[in-house]
Amino acid sequence: MPYVTSTEMFQKAYAGKYAIGAFNVNNMEIIQGIADAAQELSAPLILQVSAGARKYARHTYLMKLIDAAVEDTGLPICVHLDHGEDFDVCRSCIDGGFTSVMIDGSKHSFEENIAVTKRVVEYAHDHGVAVEGELGKLAGIEDDVNVSAEDASYTRPEEVEEFVARTGVDSLAIAIGTSHGAYKFKPGTKPQLRFDILEQVGARLPGFPIVLHGASSVIPEYVETINAFGGKMPDAVGIPEDMLRQAAAMAVCKINIDSDLRLAMTAGVRKALAEAPAEFDPRKYLAPGRENIKALVAHKIKHVLGCEGKA
Ligand code: G3H
Ligand code: 13P
Ligand code: ZN
Repeated sequence: MPYVTSTEMFQKAYAGKYAIGAFNVNNMEIIQGIADAAQELSAPLILQVSAGARKYARHTYLMKLIDAAVEDTGLPICVHLDHGEDFDVCRSCIDGGFTSVMIDGSKHSFEENIAVTKRVVEYAHDHGVAVEGELGKLAGIEDDVNVSAEDASYTRPEEVEEFVARTGVDSLAIAIGTSHGAYKFKPGTKPQLRFDILEQVGARLPGFPIVLHGASSVIPEYVETINAFGGKMPDAVGIPEDMLRQAAAMAVCKINIDSDLRLAMTAGVRKALAEAPAEFDPRKYLAPGRENIKALVAHKIKHVLGCEGKA
């Protein structure tokens, strides 16, 4: 199975009322953990790469590792640029073999967002690559950009048809109350998402795939393990899994997960190092991190995304 774009994956996900997991990748252990889980459960997969990941691991290394995942698993895999901030980074990823890119124009005005998104769509579609746009602004941290809760803004449903028609995007990320990172809601408060906005967007764009960023659940088991073995994370609260399942049964076809992967990896590494303080072979503490990633992704596929057996 070669690389695929997200187009067919999303058509099937929309019709089947499930979602595809878009997992952020930064190194070999993360890619292997995700790919092994998806292969065992025969799940379609989006591996996404941020600008920070390209800076850390470098484009060529990541592409070769993802090539290996495609060859090894035989799965349909889409390679996606996460939060492309301008035309140039999108073009570089399209030229470098990605099958999907996100142009995140959410920090711009509506008209400027349309202009940059349309430019990326024209270049991407000429090269057979799909494009995700964004309307509305999530709170949280991406790379070095920190959007405070006050600066975050929900997507305005009355803008989505015009945005999609004028840009030609293939999918749209919307802001309904999720946020990036591990600290999404105040501890002790009840997490709330604006399903009414998702409902209205879905009604205005029938059959059109919607993307949910900031969708980690911040699984308590990993935070507890990190803190039990020397970590000092404050109370962290994520998106409840039943809300993600509800979104997946609606118009959401792509669910972005990064923070849960980071927590799973860190919990595995911290525990392994704490239990064997004399150990200095990286394979001995990275392997448990990779195992945690695999278990986490299997859990997401089976119990959150609903895409088991859909590859
Ligand atoms: O949305 C942001 C992702 O979690 C990527 O994070 O930019 O630190 O790689 P990063
Ligand atoms: P989390 O921080 O909730 O994992 O969100 C990741 C994301 O949206 C990547 O684009
Ligand atoms: Zn995101």
